[in-house]
Amino acid sequence: MKALVLEAQDQGPTLQEREPAPVGPNQVRLRVSAAALNRRDIWIRRGKYPGIKLPIILGSDGCGQVVEAGPGAEEWLGERVICYPAFEWGDDESYQSADFRILGLPDDGTLAEYLTISAENLITAPGHLTDEEAAGLPLAGLTAWRSLVTRGRAKSGDRVLVSGVGGGVALMALQLAVALGAEVYVTSSQSEKVERAISLGARGGVLYTEGDWGAQLREMTPGGFDVVIDGAGGEGFGDLAQALAPGGRLVFYGGTRGKWPRILPQMLFFRQVEILASTMGTPTEFDAMVRFVTEHALKPVVDSVFPLERGAEAFDHLEANGQFGKVVVKLPMEKA
Ligand SMILES: NC(=O)c1ccc[n+]([C@@H]2O[C@H](COP(=O)([O-])OP(=O)(O)OC[C@H]3O[C@@H](n4cnc5c(N)ncnc54)[C@H](OP(=O)(O)O)[C@@H]3O)[C@@H](O)[C@H]2O)c1
Repeated sequence: MKALVLEAQDQGPTLQEREPAPVGPNQVRLRVSAAALNRRDIWIRRGKYPGIKLPIILGSDGCGQVVEAGPGAEEWLGERVICYPAFEWGDDESYQSADFRILGLPDDGTLAEYLTISAENLITAPGHLTDEEAAGLPLAGLTAWRSLVTRGRAKSGDRVLVSGVGGGVALMALQLAVALGAEVYVTSSQSEKVERAISLGARGGVLYTEGDWGAQLREMTPGGFDVVIDGAGGEGFGDLAQALAPGGRLVFYGGTRGKWPRILPQMLFFRQVEILASTMGTPTEFDAMVRFVTEHALKPVVDSVFPLERGAEAFDHLEANGQFGKVVVKLPMEKA
């Protein structure tokens, strides 16, 4: 099979011939039709991720058809599916087990013509989504769902702020929050992205690149936000904390911009706010998210689609941060 293989740090992945992994009991082989990138793939390429093992086929997200099924997994044969993008969450809903791992490192991922995976990870791809849209859903949708719904406890009527709306998780959080019936605002580095967020149901937004964006936010929503969802961290985190309403929840799932600033405790405790960490989600949350996306006919936004041979360009495109939505790699679909 053709696969995008990362062999060394700070290089693009290269297109290579690989043997697909054998299919064991309760496993299936997918013919992958589309795979989507996440910031994680960029961190791994840059050597800024724990437990890197090379060479590796990256990719946590994909959509494909089951073309082979091992004993116990026959019911999936021929089905168009997406995958829960991780393994071994464990028994405790509140945090993952020590054996938890994400698809696409250390196990080979979706950026290849075939993927061998446990049938336990499969769910039928929502019928209203194209292969490219479905490929963009799993990791971002799951992370956004747990952050917004489980950790943030967002509900209809809440005022929700999503930072850096150009990000894959952030954009899904916006779409989920709008569908929940929340009043949603965003931040971004580009006014076009704020406009696109408004076209997806946001009430408004500010540019975090402008010095007084924190004050602009407070002016926009004087009462503050019930839920704030952030993947950026960095200096702006203090402004996000300040933007919380009494009893509000600031949920963070990432730290693209690094360390938080010093935050005055007095700014937080009197308003009884909560700062909550979130990572990925459980298989049960994944099922709930896919059901919600199907019921509300939500479509992950696809920014761009690159053919497999130009997969390295897809990585460069995501790294440049110009995207709005998922960067997808399309796999060649000649007969298997
Ligand atoms: N814990 C988890 O389970 C989990 C899961 C997925 C991702 N993550 C982490 O979360 C982060 C985002 O991941 P992703 O895949 O959604 O990223 P992504 O698609 O690569 O998006 C990055 C976005 O971050 C935004 N950004 C950059 N600097 C910012 C700042 N100073 N303030 C606000 N926003 C800023 C930009 O938004 P604009 O374009 O709008 O300016 C950019 O488009 C990464 O650090 C990733 O490793 C964690």
